[in-house]
Amino acid sequence: MVEHLHRAGTSPETLADPMRPRRYRIAHTRQDTRDTFTLELEPTEGPPLAYRPGQFTMLDAFGVGEVPISISGDPARGGPLEQTIRDVGVVTHALITAPVGTLLGVRGPFGTSWDVSLGAGGDVVFIAGGIGFPPLRPALLELISERDRYGRVVLLYGVRTPEDIIFGDELRSWAHDHGIVVGVTVDNGQHAWRGKVGLVTQLIPRAGFDPRNTTAFVCGPEVMMRFSAAALADRGVRPSRIRMSMERNMKCGVGLCGHCQLRELFVCVDGPVLTYDRLAPLLSSREL
Ligand SMILES: Cc1cc2nc3c(=O)[nH]c(=O)nc-3n(C[C@H](O)[C@H](O)[C@H](O)COP(=O)(O)OP(=O)(O)OC[C@H]3O[C@@H](n4cnc5c(N)ncnc54)[C@H](O)[C@@H]3O)c2cc1C
Ligand code: FES
Repeated sequence: MVEHLHRAGTSPETLADPMRPRRYRIAHTRQDTRDTFTLELEPTEGPPLAYRPGQFTMLDAFGVGEVPISISGDPARGGPLEQTIRDVGVVTHALITAPVGTLLGVRGPFGTSWDVSLGAGGDVVFIAGGIGFPPLRPALLELISERDRYGRVVLLYGVRTPEDIIFGDELRSWAHDHGIVVGVTVDNGQHAWRGKVGLVTQLIPRAGFDPRNTTAFVCGPEVMMRFSAAALADRGVRPSRIRMSMERNMKCGVGLCGHCQLRELFVCVDGPVLTYDRLAPLLSSREL
């Protein structure tokens, strides 16, 4: 287990006892959309959590249960731990409705990173679907902090309705202040929506980037990631330069229980971020 965690670059505090949750207090809860909330968490003791973009924690709503949630904050800022959570079930509901001041358990950070700097010197494409956007946010913020190391940067983001857009103000400022080409599309656009309607994969063929010199980061529902990765590969992006974040049921987060197994991979330690060349044979063996 320790070898797995070393390979994933796990911090020394977590290595000491990865199953022991640290206590964090909810300092602030922000409602992002009708069903998505960002918690800001502060440790009751010790330094803030150091993490790399793409990593996740196991968040424990004491007495209810523990779930894996990606970190959505700015890795360079060192403030409260930010985690953006969609209300889909028992534990996520308990987390987003817990009052400010509530104590939660936090284990981690666990897993592999986006390694966004692999894209330096070339173009970079981010493709996000729904709640897949928050896990990409730390990678975007890291890239923006060294914007001149990258060529053209494109962010394609698909959501169900305009009301489901998360971090909308940030999208505008990234486009305006940092030259990021942002394309947003919705499944259902009614009334005042004047933007694109359709699947995020439909934006890929027309997005301006040099496929031979592009690194792509994809996060969202599995079917969306499969089609996005295939569309990127069709345009000529090398599968080894397409990175995706996989979701599987997780219990331990540290390679012990086998809940997250995907053939020979343990997604909690070999992932969640994995390259398309490694994933393609595993994904294509499953039905949509
Ligand atoms: C590495 C990783 C990172 C994640 N990051 C985020 C994040 O940043 N924000 C966020 O909102 N969610 C994230 N998730 C998904 C989150 O863990 C699940 O939504 C959560 O476990 C659901 O628990 P629940 O008790 O609220 O719902 P349940 O009552 O357990 O289930 C409700 C619904 O969610 C589905 N579900 C349950 N567990 C998972 C799972 N692990 N993955 C996908 N679907 C699941 C069930 O099939 C059911 O349809 C992540 C999952 C993983 C593995
Ligand atoms: S969650 Fe236990 S092995 Fe991955």
